[in-house]
Amino acid sequence: MAKQNRTVYTCSKCGDQSIRWMGKCPSCGTFGSLVEEDYISSPEPDVAAKSKNVSSKYRNNAKSVAPQKLGEITLTDEIRFTTCIPEFDRVLGGGLVKGSAVLLSGEPGIGKSTLLLQICDRFGSGFKTLYVSGEESRNQIKLRAKRLNVTCEGLLVLTETNIERIHAAIDRENPDLVIIDSIQTMYDDASSSSPGSVTQVRECAMSFMQRAKGEDFTLIIVGHVNKEGGIAGPKVLEHMVDAVLYFEGERAQNCRIVRAIKNRFGSTNEIGVFTMGDAGLDEVENPSELFLAGRLFDVPGSCAFGVIEGTRPVIAEIQALVTPTVFPSPRRVTNGFDYNRLSVILAVLEKRLRLKLSGQDAYVNVIGGLRVDDVTSDLAACLAVISSYKDVPIDPGLIAIGEIGLSGELRKAGEIDIRVSEAKRLGFTKIAMPYSCELKNLVPGIEVIAVKSIFDALDLVM
Ligand code: TYD
Ligand code: MG
Repeated sequence: MAKQNRTVYTCSKCGDQSIRWMGKCPSCGTFGSLVEEDYISSPEPDVAAKSKNVSSKYRNNAKSVAPQKLGEITLTDEIRFTTCIPEFDRVLGGGLVKGSAVLLSGEPGIGKSTLLLQICDRFGSGFKTLYVSGEESRNQIKLRAKRLNVTCEGLLVLTETNIERIHAAIDRENPDLVIIDSIQTMYDDASSSSPGSVTQVRECAMSFMQRAKGEDFTLIIVGHVNKEGGIAGPKVLEHMVDAVLYFEGERAQNCRIVRAIKNRFGSTNEIGVFTMGDAGLDEVENPSELFLAGRLFDVPGSCAFGVIEGTRPVIAEIQALVTPTVFPSPRRVTNGFDYNRLSVILAVLEKRLRLKLSGQDAYVNVIGGLRVDDVTSDLAACLAVISSYKDVPIDPGLIAIGEIGLSGELRKAGEIDIRVSEAKRLGFTKIAMPYSCELKNLVPGIEVIAVKSIFDALDLVM
């Protein structure tokens, strides 16, 4: 059948395709994300012929893919190997799974290649790793390895971007772990799209993934994203791979957080905390200490909170600065805290406590590069805002936990006990928590303040 060339427009965020250019992707709603690509497809055969061909084609193969009864499937434990970097293993759910594909994405320069080179080293020499770099020369990789003191015997370096040659190297070396750094630089000759385009990214990733599953080696794919999470596609890869890890942090600060967004072999929301130093990434065993370091006491607008990141309690500080606005509509700026959540909190405070926040700019920061999704940080944000508005400091020994509803009530929160133990370890003396929650064990030295609603919370800022 004759092939037909035409142009399609592919969304660089979600991979959805359209025959016409549009300013907004009809599938994910992103503006300006459609990029032009050549699409080669067979012309649509008529439906009857198509269904006949399809059914006869599938009937021939039917025996080879017999389904199996669920009861007859024997459970085989997945084989995991530890990366010897406990913070990274924690995010993966206990180590890398044999035959799995992991996507490590993050902004350029955040430290992905550094982390991966360190992982290669820790595996030791009984393990064969193929590190494929499409971005750096051998010299640059060697220099980085020297800086990181990586001397791994079993590490093979390949600087290549053509996937056929990479497949040939995999054939020859039969590695246990393959690292592709980064998927945006790879290209397949068979595809007419340019490297870095959504089609290339998806096809190259698919070809490596199929091999990883078939030949039981572990695959780590690096994908760059920009601040909005867009640019030629790690987003389109997310549903294909087994685990998606995000590398976060501000390049100007040295704290780096690896977070699991998806994990078929472990829990998500687990974070690994690192600091970037002169000799690469160092693990941070006690993230709370890092997030609380340098905290000023007796300054209005600061409150400590405790959240659960995966299985680990993390105590950090939230800061608010509330100042009269000079703009027609007040500014709301957040860093590490959800923007919409702040809007809700400000509206609740305005309506229920009659605080005149609509004439005030509000800036809310979570300190240390942590990004908080947990709604139980609401109460602390609320207290920080009130404290800054009234210019009255909050007791520095207090941590606040609880989600705030639209009526101003405090909703029940889980796993309070482990947060309290962590707070106690860090020297906190008071915990403000929802009235409906109970501590399983009272902790000596910690005063519990039960808060029913934000009206009670006002007493904490006096
Ligand atoms: P890199 O791993 O190349 O980032 P990515 O692969 O995500 O693009 O990290 C590059 C940055 O990290 C660079 O700005 C220098 C810094 N860095 C250190 O601070 N210390 C180190 O030991 C190394 C190797 C890099
Ligand atoms: Mg890199």
